[in-house]
Amino acid sequence: MNVPIKTPEEIEKMRVAGRLAAEVLEMIAPYVVPGVTTGELDKICHQYITQVQQAIPAPLNYHGFPKSICTSVNHVICHGIPDDAKLLKKGDIINIDITVIKDDYHGDTSQMFYVGEPSILARRLTEFTKEALYAAIKLVKPGARISEIGQIIEEMATKERFSIVQEYCGHGIGKVFHEDPQILHYNGYTSRTDLVLEPGMCFTIEPMINAGKRHSRQLNDGWTVVTKDKSLTAQWEHTLLVTETGVEVLTRRSDEPF
Ligand code: MF3
Ligand code: CO
Ligand code: CO
Repeated sequence: MNVPIKTPEEIEKMRVAGRLAAEVLEMIAPYVVPGVTTGELDKICHQYITQVQQAIPAPLNYHGFPKSICTSVNHVICHGIPDDAKLLKKGDIINIDITVIKDDYHGDTSQMFYVGEPSILARRLTEFTKEALYAAIKLVKPGARISEIGQIIEEMATKERFSIVQEYCGHGIGKVFHEDPQILHYNGYTSRTDLVLEPGMCFTIEPMINAGKRHSRQLNDGWTVVTKDKSLTAQWEHTLLVTETGVEVLTRRSDEPF
């Protein structure tokens, strides 16, 4: 495994890219209401990223992905494609995943939104998944092992009887969108694949948690990933920097505690 250590100059660029990605989520929040289409959300974000931020939406044309953001509604786990026909309705939950490139560096973050009032289960799953991400972030510091991330998420999910998607994972990030290391959100490392964290490493944690079984299926569009049993699913994502003393959340939003 080749895990890059960022230089101080690269870290400064990662901070800028991370902040921009977070700002897109803050910008789009008031638009996530019943009756809006995911296609409209995509257009607003695309416009903001390219015109206001003078940045690049990384998903657009990434391995052929057709839009600038990912919008994953209800039983869609990740990589949902925004669509002008897809109207959001009261009670939906949606993950919006934003990745921007600024000055060659990537910032990658996603959050869940409620469209109107969620069901009790939808709220429980959504809040749980955020808490699982936060608990994992707290463990990140020099000397910790990446296996601790999946361990704590699995421990927490087991208690709630939720399941963890295994087919997709967090990732190193920098000039390259997805680089080493892979960040598993479940207990899946071996002594050979485990890794000790060092200052200057940048990676995402982005757990996908299902209310039902863990298994996923990709639709024929080649992108959209759904739960096989159609159960609800939630995801939250941050881009992190390992610092000398702990962790910096590069995609922190202003309402967040760390
Ligand atoms: N942002 C996603 C991630 O967290 C990747 C999206 S790739 C796309 O890694 F092509 F679907 F946009
Ligand atoms: Co990511
Ligand atoms: Co993402």
